[in-house]
This record gives sequence, structure tokens and C-alpha cells, in this order.
Amino acid sequence: MNVNSKENQLRKQLVDALENQSDCQQWRPSFHLSPPVGLLNDPNGFIFHEGRYHLFYQWNPFECGHGPKLWGHVSSANLCDWEHHPVALFPSEDYETHGCYSGSAIAQDGVIQLFYTGNVKFADGGRTAWQCRADVSGDTVTKQGPVLGLPEGYTGHVRDPKVWKHSDGHLYMVLAAQDKDEQGKVLLYRSENSKAWNLLGEMAGSRLNGLNDFGYMWECPDLFRLEDKDILLVCPQGLAPEGDKYNNLFQCGYFQGQLNYESAEYTYGDFHELDAGFDFYAPQTTEDDRGRRLMFGWLGLPDENESTHPSIEHNWLHCMSLPRELTLKNGQVYQRPVDELAQLRDEQLLNGGMKNTIFVPEAFELKMASAVKPFHLSLRNTAVLSWDGKKLILERKNWRTGQWEQRRCDCSHIKGIHIFHDSSTLEIFVNNGSIVMSSRIFPEIGEKTLSFECEDFCFGEMWSLHSGFPKYPVGSACLLG
Ligand code: FRU
Repeated sequence: MNVNSKENQLRKQLVDALENQSDCQQWRPSFHLSPPVGLLNDPNGFIFHEGRYHLFYQWNPFECGHGPKLWGHVSSANLCDWEHHPVALFPSEDYETHGCYSGSAIAQDGVIQLFYTGNVKFADGGRTAWQCRADVSGDTVTKQGPVLGLPEGYTGHVRDPKVWKHSDGHLYMVLAAQDKDEQGKVLLYRSENSKAWNLLGEMAGSRLNGLNDFGYMWECPDLFRLEDKDILLVCPQGLAPEGDKYNNLFQCGYFQGQLNYESAEYTYGDFHELDAGFDFYAPQTTEDDRGRRLMFGWLGLPDENESTHPSIEHNWLHCMSLPRELTLKNGQVYQRPVDELAQLRDEQLLNGGMKNTIFVPEAFELKMASAVKPFHLSLRNTAVLSWDGKKLILERKNWRTGQWEQRRCDCSHIKGIHIFHDSSTLEIFVNNGSIVMSSRIFPEIGEKTLSFECEDFCFGEMWSLHSGFPKYPVGSACLLG
């Protein structure tokens, strides 16, 4: 590994930054990944390799704000019990001065190859981007440098390479790009050897293939097959709210269609949001050895609320979602928390009819079945989930304004509800994951009440859950494998 002086300086800064870890556990999730210090955002390089799931993540350990990002790294054999690894990528080279931005991983000849964006900003406000590769063997990361510069006809906003091996034997990459008319696009590339990449064309985007204006940038594309469909996950920026849709500042959703791997033509239908809650963005998927399509997302959004999160008081900001399994049913993507999460269960706190009032621990899982009448569920005086027979409504107390705010979606029947709460996270899976609502909430210490009202009998099961993440190593230990 060739460690230059910039990297040495960043390593020292990281050791110092980790000294500022707060002992206070308030709002700290225990079975979701959160940064020991600083800001975490996108999942990166998610891959199942030699018996372990590896997850990398965007991390700025130096402040609770965006800045030159590093790639943090954790791994797990069961998606529950995680281990921290040393930082995989520090932005230390000229082609990544302003951050090792998001990207993905593939396995080639026993080595994990990372593809990421070297982000470079200029003093005059301009920027450029390099798509780069780095090889990971154990905890040793060897940067291979840029494999792609800026393509002709696009602004400096080109990033987030997602690479996969296709059944035709080639490697493909989808890449987020903004064209010179400031329209968001997804580019498709092909490679034989992961070094040289050929542009096949624009496969999707604003003002393309029948879409009207649909955002000035499409971040974090991901393409994969579910059943007989090619699914494109993407995060368009710049959509105006439309009724219940697009109420967060940036959107995150999918198209389904058929991709022509020769011409880059992708015929697709409507855009569907993946999540109907307040906080879900930049998801990334991988396929594991059992053929499951698994996804992590960032339980956050780049928006005006970020800088006011209460956890900033304790020197950290944001966290990752739970791992979810994706399936396609009746033309819709379903998301379910992976089965392995049952291994996190400790004590069973409820196994029978739902009670009007339950005192809940900081981390729990609740499964409810067969509410056919409207219901109202209130959690820790910070979040309310209700159903009126037509709409599902999630309300939360906004920590910045103190006001209640809501997200709504159509829901004509309820078969079951599966809720995970982890101190300051709330993930709600409805009807086997056909609707998902993910949000951050910040309850007061000591506020432990879950109240439930429904005219109907509703069966409930609840478990307290234990932690899946050890404390982040400090001192020079954080740099060692
Ligand atoms: C999405 C994103 C990506 C970028 C990364 C930088 O949240 O803006 O497009 O690569 O975050 O941290």
C-alpha cells in the first residue's frame, strides 16, 4: 500500500477526531450503523464476498457536515453482528481532493474491486469528477487511480458508479450524470477488464424515453434484475411535490422495464418512490450467495433539517437503514427486513392481543396482524402511525420546529405491520413490504409509551433487540486490520 503524506495526515486527523467520541448514548442506534463521530451518508460497495457481507459507507469523521468523504468499512457474516474495519479510502490523491464519493464493489479473482468517484472542486466554483478503482484484499486497499474522466457533453456532476457482472460475461456500470442542459441522466458503460470502459449511451433520464422534465440530477443509480424486469433505482433531484408524492427535498425510487445491453436503450414505465417516510436516500443493492437482492439505504437526506439533528450535540450525525430484501410482486418492488434480523431478538415482550399502552425499550421490533378497522399508534410522543381505511399517515414531531409534520400514502387494506425502532430510527413495513415508511425521530429520554387504539382485535408480538455493532476502535487501533 502506497501511503502518501496527505493520507498520513488524514490518518492522524482521524485518530484525533475519534478522541471526541461522546459517551452519551442518547439517540444512538444500537443495531443500525452510525458513525462514532462526524457524518455518515450513502451505503457504498455493498457486496457478499467469501462468506461475509461487506458494507462501505460515506463518512466525514471531521465534522457533522458534508465535506471530503472517506469510505468507512464494516463486515458481517449474518447481517446482524458487524465488525469494524479500518477506513478503506482516504481522499489523498490529486484526482479525489474533495472526497472519495459514492460507488460500488465487485469481486474479481478473490479481490474486491471498489469503483468510486474522485471528486475535485476548483477555487472558481467549478468541479470535475474521476471514476476510480481501488482493490481490497483483506484490510489492504490499493488504489488503481482513475478509469474514466468526464464524458463529453456533461457538467462536473458525474458520479456514483455502480458496477456489476452481467450474464453475457461483460462488466457494466451505471453512472449518474448531469447534461449541459442541467438534466439528470444515467449513463451505461461496458468493460471487458474493469480498466477500460466504453460508453454505450444514456439509458435513462429527464427528457428521455418519454419522460418530461424529471430533475436536474439523478444520483446513485443501481440496476439489477428482479423476475423478468430490469429495475433501475435512482435518486432524482428537483422534482416538485405532487399530492402525497415527492414531499421530501430529494426523491428516491425506481423504474422497471427492459434494458438492451447493446444499445443502452431502456424502456420503462412510471417512477415509483421506494419509501413513503421522511428519511430514505441513496440506496444500494447487491446479490448474495442465496440469490437474494439485498439493499441498504441512508436513513437521511441532504436537506435543511440535517444541520439541526439533536445528535450533533453528541458529535455524530445520521445512520444507515436496516438491510432489506427486495422482491417483485404484481409489478411492484417489495422490501422486507432480512430474516436474519430475528437473531437480534432478546426478550419477548408481547405475544397476544395489542394492548392500549405498552412501555417500550429503546430498541424493539413489533409485528401486528389483522387490523381491519382504522387504528392509531403513537410512539414515544414523537411519532404517530394511523390508518383511516384509505390512507396510511405517518406523523412525527419535527425536532427543529417542534411542529408535527406528516407523510401520507394510499393504502386500502392492512394485512400486517412490522416495525423496527432503534432509539432514533423508525422503519415501518406494511403488508409484507409493499409500503415502507422510514424516518428519524428524536424522543425525549424517559418517554417510553407506545399507545394503540383500534376498535378491532389486533394480534401483536414484540421483542426487545440487542446491539449489532461493537464500539468503534480508538487510537491507532482504528487504523489496524
Ligand atoms: C448522495 C451523494 C452522492 C455522492 C455522495 C457524496 O447522497 O450526494 O451523489 O457521491 O452523496 O457524499
